[in-house]
Amino acid sequence: MKYSLILFVYFGLTIGLDAADDKSKEIKMPETFISGDATKGSQLVESCAACHGADGNSISTDWPKLNGQNQRYLYEQLKYFRDGERMNVLMMSVTPYLQTLTDEDLLDIAAFYAQYNPTVGQAKNDEDLLALGTQLYRFGNMKKQIPACTSCHSVYGEGNSLAGYPSVAGQQIGYLTSSLKAYRSKERNAGESSLVMQAIAENLTDNEIDALANYMHGLYQ
Ligand code: HEC
Ligand code: HEC
Repeated sequence: MKYSLILFVYFGLTIGLDAADDKSKEIKMPETFISGDATKGSQLVESCAACHGADGNSISTDWPKLNGQNQRYLYEQLKYFRDGERMNVLMMSVTPYLQTLTDEDLLDIAAFYAQYNPTVGQAKNDEDLLALGTQLYRFGNMKKQIPACTSCHSVYGEGNSLAGYPSVAGQQIGYLTSSLKAYRSKERNAGESSLVMQAIAENLTDNEIDALANYMHGLYQ
């Protein structure tokens, strides 16, 4: 009886403290919502820089930028890679390393990349492609059962950090293109959220994918 009371008080206190802690972090970064330890994360990413850049700003159009991506999404994807649910030839080179890391380590890595601001891309100035990209991204296509991308990735592409919907603004074109194709072919199938994107990408043509990738690459706030 006495014990459970003490425990109760103890848990009440730690929950209270955690909440206070989160709140102070939220006040500092209300839009990015970072709870991992970015400083610790910075010590775990040496082997990532070759492809993703020292601050997550990858140099190849085929390699995703991680800077400014939200923590929740990054964390989930890192777990998928570590646990073999999401596969990619290049990421496989670091899978054995990821397998030595705990969930907390992965959260710290996610916090490290999430702390940086996203960088801006430049869309190709092709009128037809831009018109199609804008139309699809903002309004979708009812006839083809393609919903507006804005409803989850937001008008300016920053996604939804609380829900863990990824930011697509300024993301590399090559990567955006291959991602949409990988959802369409159902190759990318890690986690329930990927099923949502599979259904959305199912009816997209190559040209529509090119237009969307070009549009998202040029998005910024
Ligand atoms: C040899 C190049 C290479 C290295 C090294 C590498 N990555 Fe990647 N990474 C990639 C590629 C390519 C993708 C895209 C995979 C795909 O298309 O599914 C990717 C995807 C990711 C994603 C998912 C991004 C998204 O938007 O969904 C995360 C997170 C990530 N890498 C983190 C890391 C971390 C952390 C390390 C170091 C431990 C690392 N990567 C090392 C090439 C690399
Ligand atoms: C209902 C919400 C929702 C809608 C609508 C939506 N998305 Fe997504 N999108 C998501 C979620 C959630 C993910 C992460 C899926 C995963 O874990 O694989 C995602 C992932 C993506 C990715 C991969 C990002 C990365 O870094 O790997 C791209 C690209 C993308 N969406 C583009 C689009 C486009 C283009 C549209 C409109 C045609 C669209 N999405 C509509 C929720 C949505």
